[in-house]
Amino acid sequence: MRKKISVLAGDGIGPEVTKQALKVLRAVERAYGHEFEFQEGLVGAAAIDETGDPFPRETEELCLKADAILFGAIGHPKYDNDPNAKVRPEQGLLAMRKKLGLFSNVRPVKSYRAISHISPLKPEIVENADFVVFRELTGGIYFGEPRGRSENGKTAYDTCIYTKDEILRITKLAFEAAAKRRKCVTLVDKANVLATSRLWRETVQEYGRQFPDIKLDYMYIDSAAMKLIQNPGYFDVVLTENMFGDILTDAASVITGSLGMLPSASMGEKVALFEPIHGSYPEVAGKLRANPIGAILSAAMMLNYAFNMVTESNAIKAAVDKSLQEGFVTEDINYDDPKSTEEVGDRIATLVWRGKKEPAAR
Ligand code: IPM
Ligand code: MN
Repeated sequence: MRKKISVLAGDGIGPEVTKQALKVLRAVERAYGHEFEFQEGLVGAAAIDETGDPFPRETEELCLKADAILFGAIGHPKYDNDPNAKVRPEQGLLAMRKKLGLFSNVRPVKSYRAISHISPLKPEIVENADFVVFRELTGGIYFGEPRGRSENGKTAYDTCIYTKDEILRITKLAFEAAAKRRKCVTLVDKANVLATSRLWRETVQEYGRQFPDIKLDYMYIDSAAMKLIQNPGYFDVVLTENMFGDILTDAASVITGSLGMLPSASMGEKVALFEPIHGSYPEVAGKLRANPIGAILSAAMMLNYAFNMVTESNAIKAAVDKSLQEGFVTEDINYDDPKSTEEVGDRIATLVWRGKKEPAAR
């Protein structure tokens, strides 16, 4: 197959981890006879520096012409401590989500036996974790209007707003996923306090009636946060709104032991986007210390979800598994004997190639 991929490496560690994902995609290309065309675009602080806009028009056009988007990370410390900055890199991310209609953010969380000892939770609790969060991505308090400051500057406000249609379209995707998994959807909300949450409950409950074989349950966000730590194995598909999903998935990410491991997919009306859930991690940017597995697994998700290349996607996941078993990992997993970002990328690419050419060698 021939596929055109927009590559938006972004800021901080984005470029170095994305480079490893591309390396692994090149290995897939060679091993399985595909052709991937990578086209780079500017986004985030890098784009502000060059164009003044964190998500420039050219980048948007590039994305709309592509078959999928591979994204690195966004954010730069020079904006973090300046509450008066007129443009912020994060605006690029939000604009991109909105303009590309990426309403459904899918974040799978799965533990790896080989590294369960580095989780802050006990291995026996971590080993059962295998769930996926469907986070609504283009609504809620992130985008609601009005937002801003009063004239005297002493009051600020944001608006959390949802329509039934916005809720329904991601609910459908969550149920579809549950049907292929352990058939349980947990809606996470704050329906004891928020009107938007009550609309979520009503809408999801109504929709769920069509699927009697899928168990639907409800959990308040505070209680879900607790359950996630106590018994992550409880969850199968978690469905939730934008901000709750943001918070819950950061918490969920450490269950596996490292934030650097987790991929995500954002899907919607047009082209889909794939990105590691970690941020730009400026403290180590350029030092080749960051874990590229989140980015590499995002490429695996891209092959599966956007191109229906299931075998190829599984080959990447198997190679990642193998590299973890070998202990071929970055410092977040093994601080005493770490490999570099490049070395881990090279190793996984080699394992993908070898896995196809010499299946017995795995
Ligand atoms: C994420 C990030 C973003 C979000 C930030 C950078 C705006 O935390 O993708 O989870 O809050 O959505
Ligand atoms: Mn986040």
